[in-house]
Amino acid sequence: MLLNASGCLDALTAPDTVAELDAFVTKTVTPLPRPGNEPPRIAETDFGLLNSIGLANPGRVEFLAEQLPRLRELGLPLWVSVGGFSADDYAETCSMLEGIAAIEVNLSCPNVDEAPESAAEIVAACRAATDLPLFAKLSPASWDVGEVARAVEAAGADGLSLVNTIRGLALDERTLAPRLGRAVGGYSGPALKPIALAAVYACRRATALPIVGMGGVRTGLDALELVACGANAVALGTVLFCEPDAPARIRAELAEAVAARGFASLDEVRGVAHGGVAAAGERPVMPV
Ligand SMILES: Cc1cc2nc3c(=O)[nH]c(=O)nc-3n(C[C@H](O)[C@H](O)[C@H](O)COP(=O)(O)O)c2cc1C
Repeated sequence: MLLNASGCLDALTAPDTVAELDAFVTKTVTPLPRPGNEPPRIAETDFGLLNSIGLANPGRVEFLAEQLPRLRELGLPLWVSVGGFSADDYAETCSMLEGIAAIEVNLSCPNVDEAPESAAEIVAACRAATDLPLFAKLSPASWDVGEVARAVEAAGADGLSLVNTIRGLALDERTLAPRLGRAVGGYSGPALKPIALAAVYACRRATALPIVGMGGVRTGLDALELVACGANAVALGTVLFCEPDAPARIRAELAEAVAARGFASLDEVRGVAHGGVAAAGERPVMPV
């Protein structure tokens, strides 16, 4: 199952890309409109992309009134990414959502403390506010991401999205000033892949929840590696900015990579990186 990563695809202007996905994940929606951070907000580096978009979005009222109806016309399962600055922020947005496939709870927002208790507190508030499937999107920067995974599972999460960007900084070669307006940003793309693999691996050991793996996927083999670590679905982020046709290519490469290794299906690959040591569970169910 192939999804886009939140914030990396404008579905309304890229229908051909969306047609290659199994579900569409929205940009994170916050209670109030956010203009985003000061520019420049994007800096390319040798091994990945730095962004400090700052969760620019129109806020939940306009999202629900204007964007969501148009996204529904796409005709594929929708996941709405929800963000905020308190558990109440998240819960109230969750309570306003219906008729979608899942909610991705973005627990990696600026100013949201990511201690397991705090992530669990937010998920618990969301759980009380909705019956929709809840996927907790975690940062790879936690000291023990498996522990956070267990905490959000206990709080009622139905799945995990792993991983969000990791903090990074790039300097202008000449002036040595930060290249992003806000100096520090979120680092994504190829350099994130080993970090994402480690997070998926750790969380598959910690819990049987379904996992959407993402972070630096550019090829079918990258996607296969996430599945081998235990991912049930794969999301594409940074690659979509330079290659809108990537989903079709990666899907074809993935099928080839499965067959080339003698597996009958992708299901057979799931978790093989764990060898004979059992991962926490089997055949979790994805909501789409
Ligand atoms: C420009 C940009 C904007 C992003 N916006 C969001 C967002 O609104 N919400 C979110 O949860 N993640 C956001 N992300 C993180 C991605 O969803 C994804 O977790 C991360 O980029 C790792 O995947 P990748 O290496 O394939 O890009 C954003 C990433 C980028 C590059």
